Amino acid sequence: MLSFAIVIASGSLLYTNYLVRHIAQSERTRAQVWAMSMKQVLASDDNDFLNYVFAVRDSSIVPAIVTNDNGDIQLSRGLDATKTFIKLQAEGNKKLKYDPAYFQSELAYMKEQHAPIKLAVLNEHWLVYYKDSDLLRQLKFFPFIQLSVIAIFLLMAYTAFSSSRKSEQNQVWVGLAKETAHQLGTPISSLMAWIELMKEKFNAEEDPLIAEMENDVKRLEIVADRFSKIGSKPKLEELGVYEVVKDFVDYFRVRVSKNISFELTGNPHLKAGLNVPLFDWVLENLLKNAVNAIEGKGSIHVDISGNKIKKQVFIDVTDTGKGIPRSKFDTVFQPGYTTRKRGWGLGLSLTKRMVENYHDGQIFVRDSELGKGTTFRIVLKNIRHDKQTAA
Ligand SMILES: Nc1ncnc2c1ncn2[C@@H]1O[C@H](COP(=O)(O)OP(=O)(O)O)[C@@H](O)[C@H]1O
Ligand SMILES: [Mg+2]
Repeated sequence: MLSFAIVIASGSLLYTNYLVRHIAQSERTRAQVWAMSMKQVLASDDNDFLNYVFAVRDSSIVPAIVTNDNGDIQLSRGLDATKTFIKLQAEGNKKLKYDPAYFQSELAYMKEQHAPIKLAVLNEHWLVYYKDSDLLRQLKFFPFIQLSVIAIFLLMAYTAFSSSRKSEQNQVWVGLAKETAHQLGTPISSLMAWIELMKEKFNAEEDPLIAEMENDVKRLEIVADRFSKIGSKPKLEELGVYEVVKDFVDYFRVRVSKNISFELTGNPHLKAGLNVPLFDWVLENLLKNAVNAIEGKGSIHVDISGNKIKKQVFIDVTDTGKGIPRSKFDTVFQPGYTTRKRGWGLGLSLTKRMVENYHDGQIFVRDSELGKGTTFRIVLKNIRHDKQTAA
């Protein structure tokens, strides 16, 4: 794509360059023709011939000044008409009247641009100085204007395209989430009703099996609630981070293998804007990944700390699992990336979305070593800091 653009750009530059050289050559010839015609004018009395010469002369648009050997200006053409005029008097005085400063500066400019054309006139040598016509000057700038216009156009097209793709992806996300929540709603509420009926029918208010079932249905309800929240901007509550994390870790730790130990440490006073159902989901994804990364025995450590100056709260989730290679620190957040046989690779991309879009925070792999373990860090905004003591 880039090399294609370079080919087009240099092609356009080369072609314009060719045109410029070609026209420059022809302008020199025209300046020469004009000067030679002037020579004939001075040497002739034939009116018809003079008219013919004037016609040739006026067909040339190349601005030029003619001087003699001493550098005195003899003739000019194509210059600014307001600063030069021909005094045509009854006597037939064809001499030019001019603003000397203007002519001198034009002459200096022409001397810089091109070598003069030499002509032998009467007893003198004339030097024809000329400069590029406006047309040629503009043509020299043209490729740059053209390329900038193309670049601006491409940039606009690209931005439009990528933002429309982004919003399309967002719509798919949101639509899928809402639809899921909607579809789960009906069976969940009827399951709730069934459970109530069972309690009555079998007189089993205290039965532990039914209590477990009730718990699971409540979990399902929470899941549906999470999905329904994805579509809309959820309300953030100012909550103690430690407490929210502790509640979830307590819920989670009893549901995984006894070979994995949990530890929660850190500052219990830090507050941040949280949406509990969504933030629990974030924690669940991180803790599940940590469990998956640990083969056999291991531990998971969650630490909460803060930065008073930057007004941030950090949640570090550290496991003693298999680790992530450094080259994959960013990749793990991409949808579809997984190393698990039954994995979908959606967990971390959802997690990132929930942290960044819904909590205005950041998440990244803070550190990882193959075979030793991994630390994920979540950074949240510490909304109100005055009452708190940051660690
Ligand atoms: N704590 C971790 N330790 C090691 N690897 C991890 C950890 N968390 C995530 N990963 C890697 O990132 C991949 C993507 O994770 P995720 O998005 O949750 O998808 P999934 O769990 O379905 O594979 C995992 O398959 C794993 O390779
Ligand atoms: Mg996962």
